[in-house]
Amino acid sequence: MNTWERLNRIMLDHAFLTTENPVLKNFLFSDFGKKEGVWVIQQYFSLVRMIVDYLGLALRSIPYDEVKRELRRNIAEEQGSRTHGVPHRDLFARLLKEEMRIEAFAPMSEATLEFHINLLNHFRCDRPGYTAGMIYALEASAAPEFLVVARILNYCAKREVVHIDGLRERQVSEIRCLEDFVVMHVVDFEKGHEAGLRKAVTKFNPDPENFEEGFFWVIKCMERWWNALSLEE
Ligand SMILES: [Fe+2]
Ligand SMILES: [Fe+2]
Repeated sequence: MNTWERLNRIMLDHAFLTTENPVLKNFLFSDFGKKEGVWVIQQYFSLVRMIVDYLGLALRSIPYDEVKRELRRNIAEEQGSRTHGVPHRDLFARLLKEEMRIEAFAPMSEATLEFHINLLNHFRCDRPGYTAGMIYALEASAAPEFLVVARILNYCAKREVVHIDGLRERQVSEIRCLEDFVVMHVVDFEKGHEAGLRKAVTKFNPDPENFEEGFFWVIKCMERWWNALSLEE
């Protein structure tokens, strides 16, 4: 097993990136309904909003051309380079509104604020290898996290807004609905970000200890955030 597979395997051992996510469990075993679900989606949306900033901070602190090129490509994609100039955050917010009457923008909760303040601070740590591990963690976790969010949307709507079965095998070239948006991210955009970073980081060759430290620090941070989201409301 190579390093990438090992990191992803350990990452996916974390319940928050699986059907065991504490918020999903609340829908099944606690009294979570649409109101709570919408609130969690709004909190999650803060990360959709902030990802361009995190990519930009990584771009600033990793002095290696290949990685910078990949981060720039990733930022451009988030800003709409492959979606007719419409940034992903705007597209997602519009589809949430159109299909589910969910307003994506809302104030950050205490746990969400803490999550972002922590991330912002650590992105300024001035250790390029650590920062590379951090940004890789955000990209590698994005697809499984999208699937969790898709399940939350389904619970909120009480129907399959996003058909989860066989989702990874689907082909979408144009985003017309929430399902397309999720499919496109899980099978294309996020896969590409993860693979692109793997390739560029391999050439950059950071100290593995620093890289993994940054990677696991972000995963732990995200785990704490999701746990808090399941308890806060
Ligand atoms: Fe995106
Ligand atoms: Fe991404």
